[in-house]
Amino acid sequence: MTDHPATTTKLKNLHVITWGCQMNVYDSARMEDVLRPLGYRPVSQVEHADMVILNTCHIRERATEKVFSELGLLKKIREDRLAQGHDRMVIAVAGCVAQAEGAEIIHRAPYVDIVFGPQTYHRLPEMVARAARAGGHVIETDFPVDMKFDFLPAEAAPQTPENLSAFLTIQEGCDKFCSFCVVPYTRGAESSRNVASILTEARQMARNGVRELTLLGQNVNAYHGLDAQGATADLPQLVRALSRIEGIARIRYTTSHPRDVTQSLIDAHRDEAALMPFLHLPVQSGSDRVLKAMNRGHTADEYRDIIRRFRAARPDLSISSDFIVGHPGETDADFEATLALIRDVGFAQAYTFKYSPRPGTPASAADFQVDEAVKDARLQIVQKLIRAQQDAFNGALVGRDVAVLLTHKGRKPGQVVGRSPYQQPVIIDAPEHMIGRIVTVRILHTLTNSLAGELIRETICA
Ligand code: SAH
Ligand code: SF4
Ligand code: F3S
Repeated sequence: MTDHPATTTKLKNLHVITWGCQMNVYDSARMEDVLRPLGYRPVSQVEHADMVILNTCHIRERATEKVFSELGLLKKIREDRLAQGHDRMVIAVAGCVAQAEGAEIIHRAPYVDIVFGPQTYHRLPEMVARAARAGGHVIETDFPVDMKFDFLPAEAAPQTPENLSAFLTIQEGCDKFCSFCVVPYTRGAESSRNVASILTEARQMARNGVRELTLLGQNVNAYHGLDAQGATADLPQLVRALSRIEGIARIRYTTSHPRDVTQSLIDAHRDEAALMPFLHLPVQSGSDRVLKAMNRGHTADEYRDIIRRFRAARPDLSISSDFIVGHPGETDADFEATLALIRDVGFAQAYTFKYSPRPGTPASAADFQVDEAVKDARLQIVQKLIRAQQDAFNGALVGRDVAVLLTHKGRKPGQVVGRSPYQQPVIIDAPEHMIGRIVTVRILHTLTNSLAGELIRETICA
């Protein structure tokens, strides 16, 4: 930071609060990168911040409600700071609520200085300057034609202190318009970064120590970016190019859509050693009626068939999904069909949600909304089934040797935590200097959401 020409500006403290999906985690880190040349450095305590960015999520009602209560707290912190003689704290709202609500945020919380959407944060320096000059509000929620990635600084700061595993956004937006979902409205149309820009960022991450990349996209397997020859590369081609980068040992991707699964992606799970045997492939429901109402564009059996093909290519592939219970029109029989699909597939883990009506989406205006009590009951049943499957999956690993990337210190002294190929956290006793290595661990027993193991070899099993 000290050698940057902008260091003549006073150092200022920035605090970013991140809610929502991994893409917001990536975006928040990039916002810090964009503001660094202006003298902003991240601080962990909001009370010390000269600027606070609330990076928000609009996916369910509860996520959106939290924004205004958090803003109330920030207003109070700003007043306390002013009373202590500090400069006025800048309050900015970013992310998907900012995109969806825009000026409405300023109406409800007039003390907010800046509102900007997920596609405009490369313009943050200009927004901060405008807010300071005008003393008024700045709202930037358009979808610019230029991709923000072309304007972000090349230098990306580590996303975690150890910097062994990092998110890398390769694709954004969604054209699928599922009946229930706000993402196509908050993130805009599907677009893919070009290959060169992704490779540059990945190489730099690898130079800074990253060993595991998680490629992000709302529909990550719809990726189709231009390569250096002007041809289109798909996700498996990109994975192949990334796996050649020195230091990158593991590649994951999320979230994929069943409609965009190709045979070459399935084959990549057989052929690319770096591609981890874990797949998050949301199905939402096991009922064809509900899948149709959701506009998912596939049937339950088509999903079963996709999973069968993936497992034929990579027998130990662990599968994860998202499920929504209580979509408008969902009957007991539809819900039973979801349970049947879960039993057929056998998931290693899954996220389960009660349907939450979202403004502007077709499902929110549909007849036959499901009773809240019914949604609650269904959620409990589905969660119990998933829990049992997760326990069974984890239990089956006990006694087996797996390759674990050691990523950080554990809570207890002498403990180190890592990640199995199947995505579970694994806790072992090992010296701290081994963090960063991929080692062979024998799984001893299961914990609630992780595994306990012992170090077997300081190298990985063949
Ligand atoms: N692009 C991803 C999902 C993004 S949103 C995909 O297509 O799968 C993450 C998850 O939130 C979704 O998979 C869905 O299960 C859930 N979700 C989205 N909108 C919702 C709503 N209105 N109510 C409840 N859950 C919702
Ligand atoms: Fe939302 Fe559907 Fe797009 Fe996923 S595919 S982001 S659930 S509209
Ligand atoms: Fe939420 Fe936006 Fe991600 S609505 S889930 S933060 S894309």
